[in-house]
Amino acid sequence: MTDASHDRLLIIDFGSQVTQLIARRLRELNVYCEIHPFQSVTEGFLREFRPKAVIFSGGPASVVNADAPRPPATVFEMGVPILGICYGQQVMMDMLGGKVEGGKISGGGGTAEFGRAFVAPEGNLPLLDGWFAEGREQVWMSHGDHVSKLAPGFEVFGTSPNAPFAITADTDRKFYAVQFHPEVHHTPKGAKLYENFVRLAGFTGDWTMKAYKDEAIRQIREQVGGKKVICGLSGGVDSSVAAVLIHEAIGDQLTCVFVDHGLLRLGEADEVVTMFRDNYNIPLIHADETELFLSALDGESDPETKRKTIGRLFIDVFQKYASQIDGAEFLAQGTLYPDVIESVSFSGGPSVTIKSHHNVGGLPEKMGLKLVEPLRELFKDEVRALGRELGLPESFIGRHPFPGPGLAIRCPGEITREKLEILRLADAVYIDQIRKHGLYDEIWQAFTAILPVRTVGVMGDGRTYDFACALRAVTSVDGMTADYYPFSHEFLGETATRIINEVPGINRVTYDITSKPPGTIEWE
Ligand code: XMP
Repeated sequence: MTDASHDRLLIIDFGSQVTQLIARRLRELNVYCEIHPFQSVTEGFLREFRPKAVIFSGGPASVVNADAPRPPATVFEMGVPILGICYGQQVMMDMLGGKVEGGKISGGGGTAEFGRAFVAPEGNLPLLDGWFAEGREQVWMSHGDHVSKLAPGFEVFGTSPNAPFAITADTDRKFYAVQFHPEVHHTPKGAKLYENFVRLAGFTGDWTMKAYKDEAIRQIREQVGGKKVICGLSGGVDSSVAAVLIHEAIGDQLTCVFVDHGLLRLGEADEVVTMFRDNYNIPLIHADETELFLSALDGESDPETKRKTIGRLFIDVFQKYASQIDGAEFLAQGTLYPDVIESVSFSGGPSVTIKSHHNVGGLPEKMGLKLVEPLRELFKDEVRALGRELGLPESFIGRHPFPGPGLAIRCPGEITREKLEILRLADAVYIDQIRKHGLYDEIWQAFTAILPVRTVGVMGDGRTYDFACALRAVTSVDGMTADYYPFSHEFLGETATRIINEVPGINRVTYDITSKPPGTIEWE
């Protein structure tokens, strides 16, 4: 993104896995920032970019090696505050006349360090305002090399047992260098450190999601020009926000294709189609391909075969409808940052290796389409904020994630139409219960799985022999790890009774209390 109307912070990416978290922390502070891989940050780039402050990210390289990545030396002559994190600290010390040593050394002076550590204060540093109120602070370390001698002008402001230079600064030049990662969750006061840094750099915090939206729209227009874009719409938050944003940018040049594979929840297809046709007037192809998908899946029980079959048919169907749109050159996807694994290639020039998983993966190459991915720098909650900015209804924005393969992976064992019908009804009752009890927004994801087992029960005076189902509800930040939601026994009892009374075909309800890991969120 390039927005010269705001004060800009430049993050030079040396390949850390958590560089995007730095950007996220800054956006939370309403500071405009851009991440650029170190290879593309040349002297000319710096002159043109004119950052008000610079952050050096961490990274996997060792500054001890002659070919280690470095920023242009002129970055230190721009008169702007710089914050170096982990590898960023080491590269700063190395370039400014300090010393860095590799690996683990014995006899004190520093060792490799991974995980939780505690930093104690030394002296007083405005960067750490709000820290150390209760003595030491927890931080997250992840480094092999360590600084063994400070560069001239630097002083120590914090130490940990294994990092005598955990926090260092040249206060005259406003150069700050820390050994730990303030951007991660396990450095609980890390956000405060960023807040102090941008304050010291003179940012006013005037950058908002509205500005992000305007800039994204400008970029989409620039990328697409007068060409046509197609967008695979699942009805989930990500693809919906992407579609509405792109529509705002290029109007009728966008056509959405909603593939209904017959594995959606109760009423879902109607909801999606109505919202897009009625509220947004977005050209939408409703591809009802229920028969195609369900006949291919009939009786299938292997989880991987289910996923592969759905993925393959999805591409075929999407391609069939997309080819009806004359002159489409772009494919829009609601890919989010956590879907994207980006790594900087140290030897291979400025190329960025990207691996993304998505329901329509494989299509761009097959169809010769270029990608439009306006959300690929955002995290889920930021996408929701953008959705609100775009005026999407709250009922859409707050929706729990729903997987591409839909109910197929919530129906362990053989998929049959009968089981899918039962599952749809049971899930609707369960979600209704969660909403009625005001719990929907506390839960990352909740759903029902229908189990491949019939059990004996008694209803009225008669014997029943029906399916059992499992209820699942988890809390999570990003879907990577999760814990089961601690419903009250009353809630569980009431929900089980409602499902058994209201859903023919189910006579037993269980609650899944597995966390992830070792389980996964979905059952397949
Ligand atoms: P698991 O089951 O792997 O799920 O713990 C983590 C999150 O990813 C969702 N999920 C998918 N989403 N296509 C998707 O779009 C898929 O194939 C898929 N599989 C799992 C799942 O619902 C949860 O939010």
